[in-house]
Amino acid sequence: MKTYNVAVLGATGAVGQELVDILLERQFPIKSLKLLASARSAGRVMEIGGEPLVVEEVSPESFAGVDLAFFMAGGSVSQQFAPAAWDHGAIVIDNSSAFRLDDDVPLVVPEVNGDDLEKHQGLIANPNCSTTIAVMALAPLHAAAGIKRVVVSTYQAVSGIGAAAIDDLKHQVAQYQGGEEITAKTFPSPSAAKKYPMLFNLIPHIDVFEEGGYTKEEWKMVRETQKILHDDSIKITATTVRVPVMRSHSESINVEFDNPITPAEARKILENAPGIKVYDDPAEQEYPMPILTTGGDLVWVGRIREDFTVPSGLNLWVVGDQIRKGAALNTVQIAEELIKRGLV
Ligand SMILES: NC(=O)c1ccc[n+]([C@@H]2O[C@H](COP(=O)([O-])OP(=O)(O)OC[C@H]3O[C@@H](n4cnc5c(N)ncnc54)[C@H](OP(=O)(O)O)[C@@H]3O)[C@@H](O)[C@H]2O)c1
Repeated sequence: MKTYNVAVLGATGAVGQELVDILLERQFPIKSLKLLASARSAGRVMEIGGEPLVVEEVSPESFAGVDLAFFMAGGSVSQQFAPAAWDHGAIVIDNSSAFRLDDDVPLVVPEVNGDDLEKHQGLIANPNCSTTIAVMALAPLHAAAGIKRVVVSTYQAVSGIGAAAIDDLKHQVAQYQGGEEITAKTFPSPSAAKKYPMLFNLIPHIDVFEEGGYTKEEWKMVRETQKILHDDSIKITATTVRVPVMRSHSESINVEFDNPITPAEARKILENAPGIKVYDDPAEQEYPMPILTTGGDLVWVGRIREDFTVPSGLNLWVVGDQIRKGAALNTVQIAEELIKRGLV
């Protein structure tokens, strides 16, 4: 079997660490593995499959001889180092939003639009985490009944911000237990002008505010969903909210269809869709929750019911581990699909 020289940029972060674990779990055909981060983490030793591996500070030369470069260090870092990776002949799979909407960059969820990989020119973008979780459920229903309009509200875990946010929420719990005042340091984001406590709170502000009073996260859900489903006519509106959950994003999704579709039909379609687990038995109090999906690969769908206010509509409750399927797992699946199709 052919093996590959792999580099992980952002290896010390929430997504990077998970990605390395997934590469090992899935026995990805690695010839060599390079862990890259900033000067802050250079020299740090990470244990990879029982072996110590030293994290290196990224530089343009880091990509010499690399076949596959997984970028998970943020948009500005991707913009800075993607050209160096291409110059060295590496294929970049990027987790940031830097290139996702570029026409020549496939934006891929392998179960949904893996064929788009055929057009890649050296860079493939991994979608926004909330978008990936939503399209996993929406794509099979769109194929069956044609989606006209989607109203989505998200309940996003703090780990979506990164490793520092996980530590900060734990710190806030300790402050509460110690009877101290809860400090506000990471939320809604490390760069936001004002900060708020996350414990016992919800914050309807993810990424920066943009046109129309929507956040960039909300616009990502609109534009990326249309790009992945190859259909700009789908109307989508989103409200994205940070909640004090450590891991796994939840989404309330209201969908209006062109053609009739019943909850029973939707349940059957989703039961047969790859990467989806239907968990929907209200009588047994069975519905998806972050504590059930965390650490797993599947996107769970439940609370499937008719929206009686429109001719053909459904309400869904969709939950998935955003660090895995929303980021690291989807990235590895893209690489596996490239290998399967002989595109790397
Ligand atoms: N967390 C999620 O659920 C999620 C989901 C989907 C997509 N993403 C995307 O994935 C990327 C990583 O997110 P994360 O949550 O893993 O963030 P994180 O925990 O904050 O990790 C950031 C990583 O990037 C590295 N880094 C930061 N600045 C750097 C620089 N100037 N040069 C080199 N490396 C640098 C950090 O290294 P140091 O240790 O040296 O600081 C760290 O390894 C982001 O683009 C994010 O939008 C995240």
